[in-house]
Amino acid sequence: MRCHGMVRKFVGPGFAEIAARYRTDAAAPERLAGKIRAGSVGTWGAVIMPRQPQVSEAEAQALAAWILSQPAGPP
Ligand code: HEM
Repeated sequence: MRCHGMVRKFVGPGFAEIAARYRTDAAAPERLAGKIRAGSVGTWGAVIMPRQPQVSEAEAQALAAWILSQPAGPP
């Protein structure tokens, strides 16, 4: 929670920003679940999201679905 705000960017993108970006992307849940476990860089900027190997496959799927369900934040 130090890295991701619910709405706005801190170190990484806010969860509402991620949801808005992938709202119409049917492949997003699977891809983001993979990135949550494997880590990511270059999609939002040059800052690296470290991999989270302690997160199980099932947990990553649940987290991705939850992130993508976030409503748009205030402008
Ligand atoms: C289990 C915990 C976490 C979850 C569920 C999560 C989730 C996500 C998701 C869904 C994305 C979007 C990836 C994309 O658009 O392809 C993302 C990106 C990012 N996250 Fe996280 N994250 C977690 C932990 C962290 C931590 C601990 C940090 C900071 C140390 C972090 C920093 C970032 C950054 C910098 C990005 C942008 C990476 C890029 O540009 O490709 N995240 N995260």
